[in-house]
Amino acid sequence: MSAAQKLGPSSAKLRLDDKDIDLPIFIGSEGEKAIDVTKLRAETGYVTLDSGYMDTGACTSAITFLDGELGILKYRGYPIEEIAEKSSFLESSYLVFYGKLPSESEYKAFVQRIASFDDIPEGIKQQIKCFPKTAHPMAVLSANLVSLSAWNEDLCTQDLNKDQKDTAIAQLMGQIKVMAAYAYRHSQGKDFIKSDKSLDYCSDFVYMMTGDKNVKKEVAKALDVLLILHVDHEQNCSTSSVRMVGSSKANIFATISAGVDALWGPLHGGANQAVLEMLQEIKDSGKGYEAFLAEVKDKNSGSRLMGFGHRVYKNFDPRAKIIKVACDSVLQTLGVQDPLLDIAKGLEAVALKDEYFVARKLYPNVDFYSGIIYRALGIPTNMFTVMFAMGRLPGWMAQWKEMVEQPGFKICRPRQIYTGDTHNHYVAIKDRK
Ligand SMILES: CC(C)(COP(=O)(O)OP(=O)(O)OC[C@H]1O[C@@H](n2cnc3c(N)ncnc32)[C@H](O)[C@@H]1OP(=O)(O)O)[C@@H](O)C(=O)NCCC(=O)NCCS
Repeated sequence: MSAAQKLGPSSAKLRLDDKDIDLPIFIGSEGEKAIDVTKLRAETGYVTLDSGYMDTGACTSAITFLDGELGILKYRGYPIEEIAEKSSFLESSYLVFYGKLPSESEYKAFVQRIASFDDIPEGIKQQIKCFPKTAHPMAVLSANLVSLSAWNEDLCTQDLNKDQKDTAIAQLMGQIKVMAAYAYRHSQGKDFIKSDKSLDYCSDFVYMMTGDKNVKKEVAKALDVLLILHVDHEQNCSTSSVRMVGSSKANIFATISAGVDALWGPLHGGANQAVLEMLQEIKDSGKGYEAFLAEVKDKNSGSRLMGFGHRVYKNFDPRAKIIKVACDSVLQTLGVQDPLLDIAKGLEAVALKDEYFVARKLYPNVDFYSGIIYRALGIPTNMFTVMFAMGRLPGWMAQWKEMVEQPGFKICRPRQIYTGDTHNHYVAIKDRK
């Protein structure tokens, strides 16, 4: 089922300055309701004010649906639970980007095309080597992605045609894996390892990072599921950044690099690294859960329970539920015993009963357990957010493609309400107090 329906009232009445205005109502295919304010300023002189975009629908989109109250997430109408169990990262990437599950031949061609982008330009390899070894791999990744524009002028034209878009998704998915692995190798002072096309996507990534070709199938599968869970999440901070930057018709490499930058922040994708650091700190300090939670509840402490809370989910994040189960199973399969998993579980149990978290509907999010799996799989902490970026890339690409292909495409440009000084006059510097 698809297509937004026009159900219910067709307009909302707004009374403003003794004038009645009709604002169209838009109802999405899952029943989400919106008041269309695109003509509000022209008709009334007013704009809407919504800092943090708490109640703003910035676009219509047919890619991902999520219901934060019920804890539902679907890619192109398919429940995340089904996709995580039955699909693969590359297939779900195809699904979000092209809007349908691929046929066998379409899938094979897509996988082969991604695998054909198994190397990066020599100049980018040199660029990686110029970074200090202590550089965060997200900095290296972001710089590398935008640098790709210098080697791919053909994909930097203003409006890409279908073939160019097909190339862009395959190329970026192939090359992000190489760049991510090489950023890590460099941080370890190790030589780069050539990608091996005979390996599946995740095994090849682990191989390029570690040099071990015998990647356990459980490890590759667990990584694949983690990537699936990160593929898209509608208009989050990094995706909105991608749409914002892409709306200026910046090239696709600059656009995706902007997504990586937004993702890096600890309130967004950077939270997975922050969770691990927090769990480690609890372990090292020997602080009890109650004492730690008292700290995060104290607004003056400046600290938060990382991996908890979400702008949209006011219930369990369905991805967190899948990851928690996967976490137990991966650690058991690999025979890993991680005291940080016990701390995470203990912390979660106490927090979920704590009035502060209950009243604010704060539940574990996707980042709460993902770091523990990454750790068990041998992925170092500073690579966690890079893994998130690899997973989210197809979502960013799909959202960008949808935006540029939508009729009535416009540059994104919010308004503001000015609150500064109004009547200043210039004073020469020598006369200023
Ligand atoms: C995700 C997040 C940024 C959402 O923020 P938001 O929608 O703007 O919600 P707010 O920051 O307004 O939080 C609402 C209330 O819950 C509290 N809160 C939210 N997340 C909290 C957390 N993780 N720990 C402690 N308190 C938290 C806020 O202090 C605020 O309390 P108040 O109403 O008494 O002022 C926020 O929950 C957070 O910082 N979580 C930790 C970082 C994280 O895991 N990010 C990954 C998201 S996938």
